[in-house]
Amino acid sequence: MKMENTNSWSLVNAARLLISIVVVILHLGSRWVIGAPQATAMFVFGDSLIDNGNNNYLLGSLAKANYLPYGVDFEQGATGRFTNGKTIIDLLGDKLGLPYLPAFADPLTVGTRILKGVNYASAAGGILDISGLHLGQRFSLRQQVISFGITLSQLRIQLGGMNMNLSEYLAKSIAVMALGSNDYVNNYLMPSLYPTSFIYNPRDYADLLVNQYSTQILALHSLGLRKFFLAGLGPIGCSPSQARGQCATGVNDMMGLFNERLRSLVDLLNANHPGSIFAYGNTYGVFGDILNNPAAYGFMITTRGCCVLGVNQGTCLPLSTPCPNRREYVFWDAFHPTEAVDEILAQRAYAGPPSDCYPINVQQIAQM
Ligand SMILES: *[C@@H]1O[C@H](CO)[C@@H](O)[C@H](O)[C@H]1NC(C)=O
Repeated sequence: MKMENTNSWSLVNAARLLISIVVVILHLGSRWVIGAPQATAMFVFGDSLIDNGNNNYLLGSLAKANYLPYGVDFEQGATGRFTNGKTIIDLLGDKLGLPYLPAFADPLTVGTRILKGVNYASAAGGILDISGLHLGQRFSLRQQVISFGITLSQLRIQLGGMNMNLSEYLAKSIAVMALGSNDYVNNYLMPSLYPTSFIYNPRDYADLLVNQYSTQILALHSLGLRKFFLAGLGPIGCSPSQARGQCATGVNDMMGLFNERLRSLVDLLNANHPGSIFAYGNTYGVFGDILNNPAAYGFMITTRGCCVLGVNQGTCLPLSTPCPNRREYVFWDAFHPTEAVDEILAQRAYAGPPSDCYPINVQQIAQM
């Protein structure tokens, strides 16, 4: 009887040991294959280029993408992402070993769900509160920063319960910011609805935008974030919404003025905040490479979007059938790039040389 007990006891223990070994091997294996997380979390501020569903919860918003064909190539279907597949944030998250981030406006974004980061990006939102007003409700940059403050109070509780240090957690997190497109497309370039182009010349307007941007970046810094990736504007004059046969160079010149100032701001912030890092993503340069030599990247069509446009001529007609050869298109609708372009932008932000991501890339930021 005693012998039998001992035998079954050792058998159970042997089984437990075996399971532990398998678990450890699987754990190590997955770490080696997928890569250990390089950043504790990612906090995302932006517009429709990286909105992952925040506007779904805004009843008064006309800027939504929670219907097919948006998400036609995304495993979760139409989620509110303004492209056919993954956004640049999803792809950067893959590289950093982070899961898909929850949208701040989702009521389920509470408790432990916020620990790997939160996405505050909102379609039609801009640096200026007024930008995108004619598209209804949206979260401007200012509102997104206020929302981060709410997350912070929740993080304090979550991390406190786990005996983790909030300052250290935030210092290892990455803030990704991509704003400014709507301050042009849905403000400055719409003189019939917004007076800004009568008040400011393009240089003064770029100054205004980057000054306001700087204020909000510093607000996030004062709340504890230390690593920033600031994406510049792409050549919006080449998007189907602005281009008429060829790129609108007047529009692209405005993006250039904004980008120059944003890149200078990065130098200033790095000089004034030792122990923090701010990087500028050269979206314009990478996008320009693709448009100047599309075939080298496998693209065939650069002048029109893949999906059928709806009545507002900007976003896809609900439930319409998109082009089948989506990897041959640069643009998905009249504004937003396809997942194939997002992959190139994410890869070059993550691992590109200083001409793509200045002064260091996202991978180097994560490893600091
Ligand atoms: C958290 O970490 C920082 C920096 O390492 C340290 O200065 C601070 O005292 C810590 N806070 C707590 C509550 O332990």
